[in-house]
Amino acid sequence: MDRPGNIGNYENKEGFIDLLKMKEDGKLSEFYPQLLGDLDDLRVKDFPLFEKQDRVYLDNAATTQEPQSVKDRMYEYRSAHIRGSSHSKNSAEAREVQRMFDEARRKVQDFFHADNYVVAFTSGTTGSSNFIATRFPFRRGDSLILTDMEHNSQILSARNFAKKADANIYYVPIASKEGRLDLDNLRRTMSKTKRGKVLMNLVHVSNFSGVVNPVEEIRDILGDRGFIYLDMAQSAGRMPIDLDALDVDFAGISAHKMYGPMGMGAVFVNKRSVRSIGDAVSGGSAIDMVSKWFTVPAGYPDKYEPGTQDLEGAIEWGFAIDYLEGIGMDRIEAHEEELGRYFLKELQKIEGVRVYGPLEFKDRIAVVTFNIGSFEKKTYEEVAREMDRRGISVRDGCLCAHIYAAQQIGLPKVLHEARAAFMSVESLKDLITTIGAVRVSFGFYNSMEDAFKALRAIKEIAGSYDS
Ligand code: ALA
Repeated sequence: MDRPGNIGNYENKEGFIDLLKMKEDGKLSEFYPQLLGDLDDLRVKDFPLFEKQDRVYLDNAATTQEPQSVKDRMYEYRSAHIRGSSHSKNSAEAREVQRMFDEARRKVQDFFHADNYVVAFTSGTTGSSNFIATRFPFRRGDSLILTDMEHNSQILSARNFAKKADANIYYVPIASKEGRLDLDNLRRTMSKTKRGKVLMNLVHVSNFSGVVNPVEEIRDILGDRGFIYLDMAQSAGRMPIDLDALDVDFAGISAHKMYGPMGMGAVFVNKRSVRSIGDAVSGGSAIDMVSKWFTVPAGYPDKYEPGTQDLEGAIEWGFAIDYLEGIGMDRIEAHEEELGRYFLKELQKIEGVRVYGPLEFKDRIAVVTFNIGSFEKKTYEEVAREMDRRGISVRDGCLCAHIYAAQQIGLPKVLHEARAAFMSVESLKDLITTIGAVRVSFGFYNSMEDAFKALRAIKEIAGSYDS
């Protein structure tokens, strides 16, 4: 994007942008016009803990912070209501909680433009991928397609069930150093799966490299025989999502990664695909009638929600969605993009730093993973701890995406397999040091100063390492 003015005026002799001077001159919004204009107010009102505790929170891909006004609304709700169970039906408490639970479901549905989907509450994205894996009726000759980019939970849940059914398992590799998927390989893989059903577990946005996958193109490659379960853990709350347009079969999200409560999430089941998954898990309220020999299942979504649900969690999540709607997902996406673009560009100027994922801010989000010099545990852990000592929260390690992390870091595939085989022997497990990297991930409440402080810390830390 063309920028007004000459940013070069703010470059110091090492080529870094003097952001503090830019802010002092009141020029931030001139050079970074997509930043949220009301960020300072919003931070004072809804995220006072950052200032009070003097923390720069940059671990938003792991979990996000709930706005104070959402916490307050929830406190008021709990204080003003006698708790009811939605199963009881004919009491004032039951009716009220059912009304609010239904409203929360509608908010989730509307937020993701998911009119064509049944929305069921789960414990989060891992719960949602297990929901699909346990219900997808794999048979011998069917296929499961995973990608080398998946989060571990996406691999494990479905792989266990596919193996049990003797279904074929394929992995779509990464095509480039920048970590994008090899779609030609996916085409070839699809043509290998000549018969049977195909389930593909696909991550929308990588939690390691920030790459955004081209979901619609992948859906078209899969065609009519393929089902996609889309892991939206990292995209939900960061960008506007139109599930009806993406038109995948299944999708999962976590509330805590979109500024809502922990232990809460949802699975989306495309209405055209509801008949393709079974009733592997059942319980009270998921059925209309039970006799000794017969079961009459309930309708959707009750059928997917056995037992007493986390009604309060859903209601709280609805409040968080109201909050995000109040800001606007377009604005949130644009703000994070400004932070990410600036951070990524400056990070690459630091000597000894190796950044993973795309180096241009195109098909990626503001989740940036890097190493300083070595990718050995003692190094990346120390970098994260050094940042923590400076009041900056980041995450380090393989980020629960072991296959992808190993590849991005540069470990040959066979070596990764050999290391895993070695580690699978309990007594040998601790003899291998794990590799990993450091991840900085932004949320809408982060400011350019947060990004600047992280860069300054990384620069200092890099200065103390031989690269
Ligand atoms: N998958 C989460 C992360 O990337 C936990 O940190």
